[in-house]
Amino acid sequence: MDSIAASSAQRGALCSLLCLCLFSAGLLLGSRPFFPTPRLWEHFSRAQQQRLARTAPPPAPPHVAAAAAAYHDHDVEAPAPDVGYGDIGREEEDDEEMGLGSAPAPAPAWEDGDGEGRECDLLDGSWVHDPASYPLYQAAECPFLSDQVTCRRNGRPDAGYEQWRWQPRGCGSARFRGAEVLEQLRNRRLVFVGDSLNRNMWESLACIIYTALPDRSRTRIEDVSSEYRIFRAMDYNCSVEFFWSPFLVKLETKQNQTKALKLDQLPTMLKQVVGADVIIFNTGHWWTHTGKLRAWDHLERNGVIVEMEGEEAFNRALRTWARWVDHNIDPTRTRVFFRSISPEHKSANWCYNQTTPITNETIIPWFPKILISTIQRNIQSMKTPATYLNITHLSELRIDAHPSVYTTNRDGKPLSTQQRQQPITYADCSHWCLPGLPDTWNVILLASLMRHPSIVH
Ligand SMILES: *[C@@H]1O[C@H](CO)[C@@H](O)[C@H](O)[C@H]1NC(C)=O
Ligand SMILES: *[C@@H]1O[C@H](CO)[C@@H](O)[C@H](O)[C@H]1NC(C)=O
Ligand SMILES: *[C@@H]1O[C@H](CO)[C@@H](O)[C@H](O)[C@H]1NC(C)=O
Ligand SMILES: *[C@@H]1O[C@H](CO)[C@@H](O)[C@H](O)[C@H]1NC(C)=O
Ligand SMILES: *[C@@H]1O[C@H](CO)[C@@H](O)[C@H](O)[C@H]1NC(C)=O
Repeated sequence: MDSIAASSAQRGALCSLLCLCLFSAGLLLGSRPFFPTPRLWEHFSRAQQQRLARTAPPPAPPHVAAAAAAYHDHDVEAPAPDVGYGDIGREEEDDEEMGLGSAPAPAPAWEDGDGEGRECDLLDGSWVHDPASYPLYQAAECPFLSDQVTCRRNGRPDAGYEQWRWQPRGCGSARFRGAEVLEQLRNRRLVFVGDSLNRNMWESLACIIYTALPDRSRTRIEDVSSEYRIFRAMDYNCSVEFFWSPFLVKLETKQNQTKALKLDQLPTMLKQVVGADVIIFNTGHWWTHTGKLRAWDHLERNGVIVEMEGEEAFNRALRTWARWVDHNIDPTRTRVFFRSISPEHKSANWCYNQTTPITNETIIPWFPKILISTIQRNIQSMKTPATYLNITHLSELRIDAHPSVYTTNRDGKPLSTQQRQQPITYADCSHWCLPGLPDTWNVILLASLMRHPSIVH
């Protein structure tokens, strides 16, 4: 726990809660679309199935796999020991054909880049000030955008942070086309699973879709439970959903109100995401919380309390998650993404009063590297092709894009003038204003949907 704990010991910064929203289409390189079109999506599905048929035995159907040991659920079955998860080294060897090292068969239909079959790197690029194209929507147009992230409504005086476009090197320039995005997402179910930073991204995508719709009245937000929220666009039979699960593994409240973090189980409710077309996972920040902010009282494995370092607990949790995906997700039906750690800007890189992105790339490391390497290693060990949405670096540059003092307090009300004058206590340098940076994460997500399911780079 030590290295994790040390780096998150922030001077009085109050850690945080949640949020939402985005969208676009049409980075053109010559005539090659950077953003996917529905036709290309169909190509993707077919080509992916052919590829999987060539390279791997078909996965067990989800309903069969759900009964397997990877989905431990005390309510339904006895806990299985997690020895079956194997060690990471061995799994990496097993996965050579489908892992990161493999070169997926070329799929010309959706390739862009240098015109010779190589895809441009969506994640290597720079921020371009482009007020003609960004923001992709106005906060006022999107009624369900949460107060926590509507920075201008909360009094933020500058608007420049909304106007930056991410320009991947060699990918042509971007043009947002809402209608194409709607077609791309027709009959699709997208689910975000994770913490409040994934809620930030969910709000963004829901807003992007909502503001692109010809008839916005044909939508609804469903609060299935306090942990499960759905945005539906009925005319497109499309849903964008958010499951709150900040550790991915299960946090259980005992009868005596103590909280156990169960390193070998995922929340029961996660069964509901099986069968979605796209699932975007994340975890990270909650593992770094210490003291009063730490959400669990003890760690559990096989139903008994265990003591271990934070790094090891994190690794075990990610292994449980990876195994769950491998046993429950049918890769011919579902695209799996893991969004990388979203950077905070605290201490030496404090977001307060910042109004322009960092351009000289002098970024002071801010997050335990071990968390990032643990995530990458576990994704690589999976049998299911998962795309690592590596947005950490491009987000690190956006020191200007956090709510800072233009956010809400614990009561959900915008900060008062007095509170705004106490940024050390109140500034939120974890979440992101909307419209804003998560819109770009979604632009990259939508573009990645047209690519092979491996690490995007
Ligand atoms: C609506 O979308 C779901 C996937 O989210 C799909 O299974 C279903 O067939 C679609 N319904 C129609 C009428 O196309
Ligand atoms: C609460 O209950 C759990 C088991 O249900 C037990 O392990 C733990 O020690 C209890 N904690 C307290 C403070 O009673
Ligand atoms: C933040 O900006 C305001 C307005 O420009 C200024 O008055 C204040 O001194 C700045 N605070 C810090 C800590 O830079
Ligand atoms: C980098 O830029 C920041 C402002 O964006 C500035 O404060 C810092 O001094 C710069 N560092 C170098 C090495 O130029
Ligand atoms: C993610 O991006 C960072 C910075 O751009 C890079 O150093 C790292 O290798 C990338 N990770 C993977 C797994 O591609």
